[in-house]
Amino acid sequence: MQQQLANIVSEATSAAPGIKTRPEFEVFKAKFVGAKGSMTSVMKLMAGVPKEEKPAMGKLINEAKGKLEALFAETLARIEDAELAARLGAPIDPTLPSPDDFAGSRHPLAQIREEVCSVFHRLGFTVADGPELETEWFCFDALNTPANHPARDMQDTLFLPAGTRAPDAPKKADEAYLLRSHTSSVQIRTMLSRKPPIRIVAPGRCFRRDTVDATHSANFHQIEGLWIDRDVTLKDLKSVLDSFVREVFGNAAETRLRPSFFPFTEPSFEMDIRVPNMGALSNRWLEIMGCGLVDPKVLENVGLDASEWTGLAFGMGIERIAMLVHGIDDIRHFYANDLRFLRQFA
Ligand code: PHE
Repeated sequence: MQQQLANIVSEATSAAPGIKTRPEFEVFKAKFVGAKGSMTSVMKLMAGVPKEEKPAMGKLINEAKGKLEALFAETLARIEDAELAARLGAPIDPTLPSPDDFAGSRHPLAQIREEVCSVFHRLGFTVADGPELETEWFCFDALNTPANHPARDMQDTLFLPAGTRAPDAPKKADEAYLLRSHTSSVQIRTMLSRKPPIRIVAPGRCFRRDTVDATHSANFHQIEGLWIDRDVTLKDLKSVLDSFVREVFGNAAETRLRPSFFPFTEPSFEMDIRVPNMGALSNRWLEIMGCGLVDPKVLENVGLDASEWTGLAFGMGIERIAMLVHGIDDIRHFYANDLRFLRQFA
């Protein structure tokens, strides 16, 4: 019997390395410990073993069984490892560059926003922020925009239902909430939250009740600029904006300030540019932003003494600048997330 056990263990030990699959493993295991297995038969012999030999025999059987079980466990673990390796496929090196030919890139609007902000940063402007969900006072009243101004019409601005609560946009009075129609509201929030001198740009999302077409979008982006100090003049306005235009559109770009009207600036202008090498738009006057000197009424609305402080302000559409810089003829491209479009700006 001792010999039989030794034979069983050595047979199993030499066969185990050849077992490669689960079905093979099951057959292998049954051959020894199944109902008709060789180990099972030996164990049945125990019944005929004389009583005094039983403990010694039992010990031998347990030892042999322990060895077989260890062998089974080891074989099964080897099969499971091989199955996992087959599922994972060939080994990879995660430090290699992606096989994808396109790693992703900044959206063209984000690129222009960053470029414009960095140009103004070099001119001493820092970035300020304000809520997209605004109140009527910050978006209109404080900016000297009268109650009957067309911009305040429900046809033009998206108002929120009465009772709307927006903890991020503290109200001045009992006024309506709206989706800001321009970033000029950030002028007001900035002047109320810090003391002059102030030099900020405020990029952000704006909303208007526009029907979407090639040049209009109900949701678009602006960059606002505000400079408050003593003795800010038209010369500063022109020189700041000229530097910006030359940085973004090149040194050959010409600019002009065309008289216009905004309730919050006096005098007010549209700035136009003319660039010799801009494809189909070359050598034509193109409007790029609204600007002007801050109306003294606005300074008073935020508690600044208009005899001491002066300011300039400007606001441009990021889409508009991006369309001119890249020669894009339809604003809707920016929002379609079509990779054929986006990859051109990678
Ligand atoms: N807020 C104006 C607009 O949306 C632009 C502007 C900003 C004009 C600042 C003058 C000064 O059209």
